[in-house]
Amino acid sequence: MKLWGGRFDKSTDEMVDDFQGSIEFDSRLYKQDIAGSVAHARMLGAKGIIPSEDAEKIIKGLLEIKKEIEDGKIGFRKEAEDIHMNIESLLIERIGNPGKMLHTARSRNDQVALDIRLYLKEEITEIIKLLKDLCSTLADKGELYAGFIIPGYTHLQKAQPITLGHHIMAYFQMFRRDLERFQDCYKRTDIMPLGSCALAGTTYDIDREMVAKELGFARISENSMDAVADRDFSIEFISCCSILMMHMSRFCEEIIIWNSNEFGFVEMDDSMSTGSSIMPQKKNPDVAELIRGKTGRVYGDLISLLTVMKGLPMAYNKDMQEDKEVLFDASDTVKNCISIFIPMFDSISFNEENIKEKLKEGYLNATDAADYLVEKGIPFREAHEIIGNLVNYCIKHDKPLEDLSMEEFKDASPYFEANIYDYISLEGCVKRRDTFGGPSPSRVLESVKIGRDYIESLHI
Ligand code: ARG
Repeated sequence: MKLWGGRFDKSTDEMVDDFQGSIEFDSRLYKQDIAGSVAHARMLGAKGIIPSEDAEKIIKGLLEIKKEIEDGKIGFRKEAEDIHMNIESLLIERIGNPGKMLHTARSRNDQVALDIRLYLKEEITEIIKLLKDLCSTLADKGELYAGFIIPGYTHLQKAQPITLGHHIMAYFQMFRRDLERFQDCYKRTDIMPLGSCALAGTTYDIDREMVAKELGFARISENSMDAVADRDFSIEFISCCSILMMHMSRFCEEIIIWNSNEFGFVEMDDSMSTGSSIMPQKKNPDVAELIRGKTGRVYGDLISLLTVMKGLPMAYNKDMQEDKEVLFDASDTVKNCISIFIPMFDSISFNEENIKEKLKEGYLNATDAADYLVEKGIPFREAHEIIGNLVNYCIKHDKPLEDLSMEEFKDASPYFEANIYDYISLEGCVKRRDTFGGPSPSRVLESVKIGRDYIESLHI
C-alpha cells in the first residue's frame, strides 16, 4: 500500500513504479533525509504540534533505521518510490502510529529540496578541501621550479621564455578562483527550505529557525514557492564543477602535449601511466586524457539540468527528479578527477636537458633583442622591424640569434654592442621580467608566498 494510496481505487502498474521511482539513485540521500526528519520531528514536538513522546519515538526509530542502513541490513523497496517514502514507511512499520505523524507540516517537495541542499553543502566542503590540497601541491612545485626556464607559447608556437614555476602558478590562480566560486556557491546553498511544504507553506505554527539551527543552515528560505521550485543552486554547483573541469582539462592537455614524443618535456611516473595491449613500446597518459574526457560529461550534466528546468511552470514538477543523477555524477566526477590529478601531477618529472635543447629553437629572445635596441633609443616599431629582418636572416642561415657574430649584429644595427649576448641570454630575459605578476624567479617565489598565505587563511 502506497503512503498516498487513499485516493486510488487501483494499485500502481508495476511499469509505472519502475518508471517513476528514484530509489535506485536517491538512496544515497538517506543520511540527509534522516537528519532532516529528526530535526523536523524535534521541532514538531517542541512546538506541541505532535506529542513530545511521539517525537522522541520518531527520532529513536529514525536513528535505528539509519544504523541499519549503514550496517547493510535494509533493502529499499521500489514500490516505496524514493528515499523519503522508503524511510517513512520503514518508520511506520516499526513504530506504528507515531510514525504517521512525521509528515505533519511537511511535503516531499520541501523535504527533497532540503536533502539536496544538505548533501551539496557536504560535497562543496569536500571539493574545497581537495582544491586546497591541489593548490598547495602547485605552490610546492611553483617554488621548486621558480628558476626553471621553459618556452612560453602563444598559438602553440614558441613565444617568450618563462619559468616553469610561473606556468604552474598560473594554474594555481585558476584553481584558487574555482575554490572561491565554490565558497560563493555554498552561500546560496546554505538556505533551509523546510516549512515551504508542497508550495504554499503550512497552517501549523512551526519554528523554521529551530530546524535551520539544528541542521546548521545560515538562513531560511523566504518564499515557499521559490524554495521548492528552483534548482538554481544545483545548476550553480554544476557550473562551478564545469569551470573547474575546464581548467583541469587544459592542464591535462598541456601535460599530454608535454608528454608527446615530439615535445618530450615530461616523463610521467610509471604508476600513473598505462600501456598498450598491442604496441609494446607505448606508455600512455591515460589519467590526463580521461580527466580531459570526463570534462565533457560534467558539461553534459550542466546542460541536462539547465534543460530540465527551462520550461517548468511553478512550482514543483516531477521533471525535477531528474536533477539528482546529474548532480551526483558531476560531484563524483570532480572529486575523482582532483583526487587522481594531484598524485599524477606530483609524480611528473621534467626533462631538463631536453627542454634546454628545445629552448634553442624558436627565437624566444627576439622580443628582448628588440628591447635592447629600444634601450638605445630606437622606437619600438623600428626595433621590431630590425629584429624581424635579423630573425629572417637567422632562419635562412639556420641559427639562433645568440649564435650571430658581432659583425652580423652590427650589420643589422650599429647600436648592437658586445653586451647583447648577455642581454639576450634566456636567464637574462627571464630575470628582467620582474614586474609584479611576472615570470622572473623572484616574482614566482613571491606569488608562491602569496598563494601559501591564502591557503593558510582558509580555515578548513
Ligand atoms: N523523488 C522526488 C524527487 O526527487 C521527491 C519529490 C516528490 N514530490 C512529488 N510531489 N511527487 O523530486
